[in-house]
Amino acid sequence: MTLVDELGSAVPAAWRPALAAVRREWFIPDRMWVDLGDGHVAVDRAAEPDRWLRAVRSDRAIITQWDDGATVWPDTGAHATCSASQPSVVAGMLDALDVHEGHRVLEIGTGTGYNSALLAHRLGADGVVSVEVDPVLADQARKRLVAAGHPVRVVTGDGADGWPDAAPFDRVIVTANVMLGQFPDVWIEQTRPGGAVLAPLGTTLTSGPLVRFEVGEDRTAVGRPVPCYVDFMELRAQRRPIAPWPSDDGDGDSGTTRVRPWELFHLDPLWTIALRLPGCHWRHQPPVGDRGRHVLWLLDPQSGSWATASYGRHAGAGPWPVRQHGPRRLWDEAEAAYRWWDDQGRPPVDSWRFTITPDAQAVELG
Ligand SMILES: C[S@@+](CC[C@H](N)C(=O)[O-])C[C@H]1O[C@@H](n2cnc3c(N)ncnc32)[C@H](O)[C@@H]1O
Repeated sequence: MTLVDELGSAVPAAWRPALAAVRREWFIPDRMWVDLGDGHVAVDRAAEPDRWLRAVRSDRAIITQWDDGATVWPDTGAHATCSASQPSVVAGMLDALDVHEGHRVLEIGTGTGYNSALLAHRLGADGVVSVEVDPVLADQARKRLVAAGHPVRVVTGDGADGWPDAAPFDRVIVTANVMLGQFPDVWIEQTRPGGAVLAPLGTTLTSGPLVRFEVGEDRTAVGRPVPCYVDFMELRAQRRPIAPWPSDDGDGDSGTTRVRPWELFHLDPLWTIALRLPGCHWRHQPPVGDRGRHVLWLLDPQSGSWATASYGRHAGAGPWPVRQHGPRRLWDEAEAAYRWWDDQGRPPVDSWRFTITPDAQAVELG
């Protein structure tokens, strides 16, 4: 089965020829990692050729690098630092980019080179420039693109600088997560008025929407989420190392909540909470053993504050126990943000609007 067969109706008509012609297997290293539903497994093409090809032609992300290359196959590292993104996401992003013949596109995050090749199939190799921060990955992608007949210019450098030498572009596509409030406005500067920048946004708490910014004559970019759920690795300089998670050794203040704790962590309310709790992280600890409980944690590494809310395997009717520690009352803050979201009529994540000017980056309910 080919990848196009596998994706079926998820392939936008305009991208079907490119996805059929450009084989994903040309861009995937012989040794890679794939999550087959139960954690990442290391697959070697030489040892398991059928399994390798099935994984590459499936709608799954393929991890090609851990920990900037410090973790070597077959070990699995702490942070996936390069992947060939899930093909349905690749297709959805290309569709949302809305390119037309003659367009020139800047891609940030070359990775394997697969997405660059798809763009080049449609626009010609001269129509695409791609920037990759990791020199090893950039070099491999460059070679694969040449071998595939799509010799896109791959620049080794920090994509946060864009690529002024070939600006302005009609489109910029960012295939790494951009931290809200730290959007490199050179991408707007390097896009012609009337053009667009497509980027996945996130905060420390959670990844957020994929946003399509339209660039105005006055260099203001107005962004609206597109309906394509994405979860990318961060731009390298925006990675936030988090402090080790604390343990609740009894020094938190006890209380209760009547809001079902797990409801705060669904996509739509979580994004609102993410906007209200900058710098924070969350984690779910599943029950261990017969009598364990689910524990939801919030952590602010800067102030050392943490909060937990817990519930049993059969969640029951509440109230549910809450513990909070440190100068910030994180559960109270998160619950207040949740109640605000509820009062606003439970807006979905794609109701938010983003505005970027040379002086400010704003987000508001649209
Ligand atoms: C999800 S992968 C990109 C997938 C890629 N488009 C493909 O088709 O394989 C993210 C890539 O962004 C790169 N990256 C991270 N930060 C970057 C930065 N500041 N500038 C350029 N590339 C960056 C990573 O090294 C990684 O290769």
